[in-house]
Amino acid sequence: MGSSIRGVLESMLRLQGPIHNLHVRIITWLIEDHKGHKICSRPPLTSEGKILDLQLVRIRRLKLHHLTFGLLAATQLSHAGDKVSYSRQILPILSDKCFYCHGPDKNHRKEDLRLDIREEAVKAGAWDPKSPAKSEALIRIFSKDSDEIMPPPDSHRELTETQKNLIREWINQGAEYEKHWAFVTPPQQVPVPATKDRSWAVNPIDSFILARLEKENLTPSKPAPSERWLRRTTFTLTGLPPSQPEIDAFLADKSPAAREAVVDRLLASPRFGEHMATSWLDLARYADSFGYQADIQTDAWPYRGLGDQVA
Ligand code: HEC
Repeated sequence: MGSSIRGVLESMLRLQGPIHNLHVRIITWLIEDHKGHKICSRPPLTSEGKILDLQLVRIRRLKLHHLTFGLLAATQLSHAGDKVSYSRQILPILSDKCFYCHGPDKNHRKEDLRLDIREEAVKAGAWDPKSPAKSEALIRIFSKDSDEIMPPPDSHRELTETQKNLIREWINQGAEYEKHWAFVTPPQQVPVPATKDRSWAVNPIDSFILARLEKENLTPSKPAPSERWLRRTTFTLTGLPPSQPEIDAFLADKSPAAREAVVDRLLASPRFGEHMATSWLDLARYADSFGYQADIQTDAWPYRGLGDQVA
């Protein structure tokens, strides 16, 4: 996969219109793969080797920079029949609405019920994978009785109907927990999905994108004009716009490998490393300030200065 990074990037970025989260995740993953940088420690696939169930339609409205290094947009929607994901769909709900009283913190724990450990939750009858309808938690969350309903009304942690239904579906599917993704070995091989349109995909990654677009009844956008492609590629890899000489040189280069050459040039540029590093600093919550009045002298100006030079 690493050797084809240029081709992949090239075809990702040739699309006109907004770039999808999926593209971005794949790009980030590939860059990591190729360069050995830990930008995003997970490939865009689930442990079952399924491409992540991204809500493309919703996600495409979000801005690119929200997505590039963002965690997975946890979606609370699920297609009927799809497997509900504990990590992405259920855990965020339980963590937000239940763990305060039924989680790891024993000082807050009510009824000695822990929902963060499957064995305990099953033993207590909260989830009953054998007879899902008898699950005490389900009875509680769907209850109309204010003395019985979970979460208790005065906790102001009310569940939406979608969340309730999702929990029910997950229990029906066996109430399985998953290990945190950081501890799951990524699959070595993932079968390339078949697509109705057989002419669009230029490389196997395209087929994943197209398969999902087809599932959503979306058609791929048209290829972007050269200048836009250059701008997009340069921003993606360096966070900067292309310079005028770079634009001129690219528009003048009529060779079939012109785009590959651009990606090579950008990947080799120190600006690429800086761009990756700034994102890491953000992820590590780097700040040159304590955030309070006590800030006096700080040493972050070289990092800031980089931004100023750019502007
Ligand atoms: C603010 C605290 C609080 C939150 C949040 C909360 N619970 Fe409870 N839960 C309690 C208390 C207190 C009890 C015991 C009183 C009762 O049975 O109504 C209880 C009891 C239960 C029981 C019955 C336990 C038993 O052994 O009988 C289940 C099941 C349950 N909760 C599930 C949930 C689920 C699922 C959520 C999240 C959707 C949740 N709870 C959120 C406080 C909470």
